[in-house]
Parts: sequence; C-alpha cells; structure tokens
Amino acid sequence: MSQALDEIKIGGLGASRKRVEDDRFIRGKGNYTDDITLPGMLHMEILRSPLAHARIKSVDTSKAWDIPGVHLVLTGEMMATRNLAWMPTLSYDTQAVLATDKVRFQGQEVACVVADDPYIAKDACEAIEVEYEPLPAIVNPAQATADGAPVIRDDKVNQPDNVIYDWEVGDKAGTDLAFEQADVISRLKLHYPRSHPSPIECCGSIADFNRATSKLTVYMTTQAPHIIRAAVALVAELPEHMIRIVSPDIGGGFGNKVPVYPGYVCSILASILLERPVKWIEDKSGNLISTGFARDIYLDGEMALRKDGKILAVRMHADADHGAFFSDAQPSKFKIGLLHSTFACYDVPAAHLTARGTYSNKAPGGVAYRCSFRVTEAMFFQERMIAAAAADLGMDPAEFRRTNFVRDDQFPHRTPFGFLLDSGQYAKCLEVGLKAIGYDDFRRQQAEARKRGKLLGLGISTMTEPLGAGNSREYDILGIKMFDSAELKIHMTGKAILRTGARTQGQGHETTWAQIVAHELGLPAEDVIVEEGDTDTAPFGMGTYASRSTPVAGAAVSMVARKIRAKARRLAAHLLEVSEEDIEWELGRFYVRSAPDRGVTIQECAIAAYSNMPDGMEPGLENTAYYDPPNLTWPFAVYLVTVEVDPETGVWDVLNMVAVDDCGVRINPMIVEGQIMGGLTEAYAMANMQFITFDADGNCVGSNYMDYLLPTAWETPGFELHSEVVTPSPHHPIGAKGIGECAAVGGPAAFVNAVLDAIAGTGVRNIDMPLLPDRVWEAITYRHDVSGAPPVRSDD
Ligand code: CDP
Repeated sequence: MSQALDEIKIGGLGASRKRVEDDRFIRGKGNYTDDITLPGMLHMEILRSPLAHARIKSVDTSKAWDIPGVHLVLTGEMMATRNLAWMPTLSYDTQAVLATDKVRFQGQEVACVVADDPYIAKDACEAIEVEYEPLPAIVNPAQATADGAPVIRDDKVNQPDNVIYDWEVGDKAGTDLAFEQADVISRLKLHYPRSHPSPIECCGSIADFNRATSKLTVYMTTQAPHIIRAAVALVAELPEHMIRIVSPDIGGGFGNKVPVYPGYVCSILASILLERPVKWIEDKSGNLISTGFARDIYLDGEMALRKDGKILAVRMHADADHGAFFSDAQPSKFKIGLLHSTFACYDVPAAHLTARGTYSNKAPGGVAYRCSFRVTEAMFFQERMIAAAAADLGMDPAEFRRTNFVRDDQFPHRTPFGFLLDSGQYAKCLEVGLKAIGYDDFRRQQAEARKRGKLLGLGISTMTEPLGAGNSREYDILGIKMFDSAELKIHMTGKAILRTGARTQGQGHETTWAQIVAHELGLPAEDVIVEEGDTDTAPFGMGTYASRSTPVAGAAVSMVARKIRAKARRLAAHLLEVSEEDIEWELGRFYVRSAPDRGVTIQECAIAAYSNMPDGMEPGLENTAYYDPPNLTWPFAVYLVTVEVDPETGVWDVLNMVAVDDCGVRINPMIVEGQIMGGLTEAYAMANMQFITFDADGNCVGSNYMDYLLPTAWETPGFELHSEVVTPSPHHPIGAKGIGECAAVGGPAAFVNAVLDAIAGTGVRNIDMPLLPDRVWEAITYRHDVSGAPPVRSDD
C-alpha cells in the first residue's frame, strides 16, 4: 500500500495555495525601500532638464549650497572629475549620469542635492540655476535619419549620425524567391507606441557606505540585484565582495526596475563622499518621464501567400526609437531583442527581418515592459499581419490560422529565424477558444447587427512566446551567461530555507518555489521559507524579468531539491540498513522495495544528516544548483475578444473576452490565473487608453496620470479563462513554461483586431494604439488609416 503524501494537501504542484507573501502585504507590513530608515540618513533629490535637447552653458549651484540643511550638491562637472559623469549601459553604450555637455531628453538628470530631508533637497534643486541653449529636438526615427539631422550623441567618437545599429536576421534570398512565387502579397505598417510599466512603487535606493569596514550596502528597487552588484563594482571601481545589494519588497517591476538609473549611482557616490546613508526615492512624474520605457517601434512588413491560404514567406523591417542612450537590458547577441520570434507559431518556410535602431531626444527606451525582449512588438505585428492577410485572401481568420499553425507532430520545430520550439497544441487551444466565445454564433449575430447599422467585431490573437532566456550558448548580458541558481538548506527538524538568484516583484515566488520543493521532496510547502534579493546570502542569478523565473530559477529549485533527495536516499539506506539500490521513493518517504511498509520519511532523513550519518558521509543536508536551460520554453495562448463600436463617437466596448493559455504544468493555478488577468488588463490598457508621446519640441506628453491612464476595475472588462490544454515543456524538470507576460504580450492584438473587424468594409487596415474614440471615429468617417506616431500637437 502506498503511503505517499497527497501532493495537493502539502501544497505541491497544482495546489492553488494562497500567496504567503500577501499576509504581510495586506496588513501593510511589507518592507519596501522607502520603508527603510537608517540612523543619520540623508535625502537626495534630482534636478531634471525641462528641455529635450539643449547645450548646457552654465550650472550655478551657489544658492543651493547656501540653503541650511544642504550637505552636497552634485553636478555633471563634479561627477566628471571622478570619471563618473557617464556610465556603461547594458547594451554596450554609455549613458550620462548627470549631464555635462548637453541635455538629450526632457527629464534628464542634471544635478542632485543631498539634504537633511527631501523637502529641503527639492527646494535646493529649484535654487540651482542652469543656462541652456536650446537645440532642435528629434522625436522619431524618420527625423533622426533625415539629411542634416542634428547629431544627438556628439559626445561619442565614431558616431557621425543618429543610427545605433543596422541588424538583419533570416534568409533574404529564400524570402525574395518565395515572394516571386506568391499569389497574393499582403502588407501592413504600424507604430507600437511608447508605453510605461507604471509600477505602484517608483524606483529608489538607500546607499550606505561604511568607512570603517569599507563595505557599501545598497537597498534598492531592483529586479536583478546580482547584475547591479557587478555594475556597481565596475562603475564605482569598488571590490565586488565589498558591495551588498539588497532588494527588499518590490511594489511592481514589469521591467522598469532592471536598468541602472543615475539616481542609484548618485546616491552611492553621495554616501561615499558624506559617509552617511543617502536615500533617493523617485517621484511619480520622475518615473513617468525618465525611466525604463518600452516599445516605440515602427514595423513595416509583408507576407507572401498562396491563394489556398498557405503562408510562403514573411519580410519585415523595424525602426526602433531608443531615446538618447541605448540602454536596453537584453541578450547581447540580439540587437533588437527577440523581435525575430515573430511568426514562430506558424509554419513559415522563409523569413527575413531587418532592423535599425536610432537615437532620439527621448528618455532611453526599449526596456521590456512585461515582455521577453521585444516579443510584445513581435507578437503584435504577427497577429495584426495575420488578420490583414486573412482579410486580403477573403479567408476566415480562424481557418487561416489553422491552415498555418505548426502542427502537434512537427515539434521540436525550427522557425525560419532559428528558434527551436519545444512543444505545443496550437490547433486544440484555438478550438477551445472558438467554442468558448461561440464563434459561429457570433458571426451570425455580427452579420445581422450590421444590417441594422450596428458594428460588432471579433478579434483573435494566437501567439507563442520565447520565455526563459536562456541557454548560455546564445544568451548573455554584457558577456555574463544567462543561467540561474537555487540553494536549499534542510534544517535538522525537516524545515527548510530556499534561496534563489531571482527576485519576485509581486509574482509570488515565495509561494510557488516552496511548492516545487514540496513536489520534489514531500516537505509541506509551509515548512519551506523562500528568500531572494540579498546578494550577500542569495546565490548568483540574472534576476527576474522576461518571465524567466519559472523556466530558469524554478528549474534550479527542482534540481537542487533532487540533489538533496539523492543524499537523503543514501541516508535512508543507512537508516533502513539496506543497500541504496533497494530503496524506492514515494512522495515524502523512502521505503524498502521488498518490504514497502519499512520506510523513513524525508524529515527522518533530515535529522539523520545531523545525528546519524553513515561513516564517511559529509554531515548536513544542503546544496546549490546552477541551471543552464537547454532551450527556451514556449507557452502558447489564444485570446478572443468581441466588441461593439459606436460609429457616431468611435467609442468601443468589450462584450466578451476569452483566454486559453497553455503554459505547461501549472505550479499554482490561482497565481497563474492572476498573472493572466493582470496581463489582459494591461493589454486592454495598451489597446484602449495608454501611450506616452512627444510634441515636436520633445516635450513628453503624458507625464502624469491625468494623461497616462491606468485602467481601474471600473473600465476593465471581465475575462473568461481556460486551462484545459496542458503541454508540458519536454526539457523543463517539472514541465513548466513561463506565463508572467503572455497575456500582456498577446492580448493587445486581439482588441485591435476586434475593432478593425467591426469596421471591416471601410478599407481601413490600421489604427495605431491606443484606439482612442477620436482615432476610431476618424477611421470610420474618413475611411483611412490613423497613425499615432509622434510628434503630436502640443495642445493634444
Ligand atoms: O519571471 P516571472 O516570475 O515574472 O514569471 P513566471 O516565471 O512566468 O512566473 C510568474 C508566476 O507564476 C510565478 O509565481 C510562477 O511560479 C507562477 N507560475 C506557475 O505557477 N506555473 C507556471 N507554469 C508558470 C508560472
């Protein structure tokens, strides 16, 4: 008789365990960076540029120094004397810490003041007098590459223009040939606007340099503490072992908290100079105007088609606006992230992508916002192009997808851009989605409604996303290979502490990692405490972004637990006085194969590791695993939306939304559903209301929450989620694939496709996001495409 534990009861895989971290969050007992107060702590504020592009003629700080309570005023000139005016970025560029020669975007950091309190520091910032000589601003790639365009990065040698890179991937000759053989060529051009992650908590840091020990401790909002430690060691030229980065609770990251920001560097230098802790907490407008933007990309592509609906080839060009500095956090090998993951779920024989990155007078952009390195743009273009191609062929969009999906028997499947898809059941997911939305019935209602002048539309988005960067053969950031780690210590009473190199920002790692340990070892999840974010205690890891935690750190958790189980097996053999080969495992217990009732629990093995180990065995029960994934994981999703558009006003309402996500084995189904709902909400926001744009002078339009809209429960539609399709990843130890970003990545196209479906017949191929009522109204009324690309009129 099996005496295995009930996995759900002990909180293992598949248990919808309540998030353990929420206990402290809902009681207001979280420990965020701004909650930390150190003895003798000073406060830092940043003076930002009001202009997008201007030469700095002078900076006069004398009045600021005269204000009582001011301890330090930092300028670019002072930073330059310490070789700290510029810092390296994660994409092999340089970025100004404090401006010296020019300001290059509105909101750029010009000076810092450190004072007794933040109010004095702010007042002193306002007392700094900066004389600027305005220069013409560039706000899009067309302006950046126009003849005679001012060179934004004239600080760099060998930078005669505003082009950062020209990059290409795929098979040009094969693609050209396929286009020659096409029956139909379908085209699409669009702009994916700049968007902003808008975490509730802005960025911040408290630097604490201790002269007596020469140790620098920095508490800060970072999703990647180990990378920050390495960056600080390089930038500040401090020995790495004398730097401790602590990332306390994080109030949302979404990619915003991956880069190194000037505020972090200035607080560190100030603490070293003053030998006191220095706190910097970014305000909301500072966050909206200057940190970690995403997207801002122009996509132009075409698809070669056979008249029976088969895709023959795809050709694409991308123009990416990176802002004033190329500071993307992304794998070094790929200049435009994983944009070439586009069309991965379709069996496309040939494809070719060219991409050009340019500087502009905007805050540095291109940072992932809930996106695995530009996968959002890739999937958005893919699903908009698929809808356009189906319409051009006069084919039903669901049938067009079915015709072109990678089939279940084609895995592992190599995409034309070289990715290897691990697994999936694409057609099955689509069928589940179509049934749930009542596809055929809706099409009938739609036709009927149209006769009465009512505009109903249905949008589909089907996508796969490469999650879990990455294997060390191909993925590195600044040469550091993208692996992850986990360390597990089982105490003698069978309680445990697990540490990983990842850093949760609300995703629930403290809950789900313990579930993986419960699954592997049979220890109740509540007996496992999870700790992340302190570089002095956590093993090395590349951090949490791009939904890589479960595919990489989560796999490391499995692997370290398996190492522990292997040692526990030897302890069990010793306790049961049989040889190791005679031992079997069931959840929570080893037993003798020939006498199953003779067994020992994992907890009994734990105490034996400290009290009764066999001769020659190293005592203790702890280990560390480093996991270098063999491949990315490829979750798949189908999102379907129905809408009604009011032709008089352009307002559109969501009638129904269905999501079918296949992320392999779900560790915690409730957390997965939360991730999907959050992602769909963000997708709706991007499609409906959110964008940050710029006027012709480079003024950021949308630098406050009156203009940059966050969806509340009031306007967010309801979502119907489906989880019946499960395709385990064949290479992940527990078959899990990432999920954190899927809905934010794949969702926007479903909304846009729905609105365009509703106005089919007008000849409109594209309306750029967000689909504001005036844009939709303009498209319906004037029967033309509507672009949302900057510059906008400053009175918009
Ligand atoms: O890297 P990040 O944590 O943002 O993304 P993720 O790895 O996709 O995980 C998001 C959350 O969902 C974590 O708490 C995961 O453990 C959980 N998850 C899950 O329960 N099952 C999966 N198959 C994937 C993620």
